[in-house]
Amino acid sequence: MRSLYRTVVVKRELSRKAKLSIYRDLSYIKIIDVGQRYLVNRVLDHIQSRIVYYLMNIHITPRSIYLCRHGESELNVKGCIGGDSGLTVRGKEFAKKLSHFIQAQGISDLKVWTSQMKRTIQTAEALNVPYEQWKVLNEIDAGVCEELMYEEIQENYPLEFALRDQDKYRYRYPKGESYEDLVQRLEPVIMELERQENVLVVCHQAVLRCLLAYFLDKPAEELPYLKCPLHTVLKLTPVAYGCKVESISLNVEAVDTHREKPENVDVWRLSEEALLTVPAHQ
Ligand code: G3H
Repeated sequence: MRSLYRTVVVKRELSRKAKLSIYRDLSYIKIIDVGQRYLVNRVLDHIQSRIVYYLMNIHITPRSIYLCRHGESELNVKGCIGGDSGLTVRGKEFAKKLSHFIQAQGISDLKVWTSQMKRTIQTAEALNVPYEQWKVLNEIDAGVCEELMYEEIQENYPLEFALRDQDKYRYRYPKGESYEDLVQRLEPVIMELERQENVLVVCHQAVLRCLLAYFLDKPAEELPYLKCPLHTVLKLTPVAYGCKVESISLNVEAVDTHREKPENVDVWRLSEEALLTVPAHQ
């Protein structure tokens, strides 16, 4: 009986050691008590270290993330993309209303982030609270198409315009960026948003689409067409396995800057077909 018992104990010990040696060789992170402690084993490469960093920074404290674009800008009303113009009268009106809206939310520890572009800074100035400027929150760089109207892009770069319509997520403007580039550029902001609690991000159409796609788990194909109107706040509240979204219009008129994908994306299409979905402007 004693020898049988000894055999069982030895076998158990061997299998425990075998298991331990398997675990020793594996790469893993064990999260204990919802992030009170972590056990990190054999982090072998860059991706694994990014995953560990990410998992060590997420939390489940109830909070909201407020996302909005700057108030309407001078270039918005002219139908131009990019540039660094200031706010219109309606844009300034939105900034004031945003201030009232944020006050009414009654959040004492709200962080406010902007890009380094005039229109987001002017919007945040109206809040009369400290804010932080992030260069990585700047709008997508449209390269040679900066400050052009869609009509001018079609006139001067018809091939580029069609190629963008064919694959808007991956298309990179000559001397500029693609949405794919922008997603990469925004990684530090996303990481920091995961670490923080209540934050208001005042940013730009393309940037807002990328942030929204991350929190709502939208695919790359949908991302560049997500509707992010001016003068509207998107309130995201993380819930189990996702995010609740509330879209709050602050009821200040603004130009529409959303151009849908046209039906014809062929490089040989007519100008009229390429411009069919361009929103109205001055
Ligand atoms: O200036 C950049 C625009 O916000 C981007 O709009 O990517 O839909 O052309 P789009």
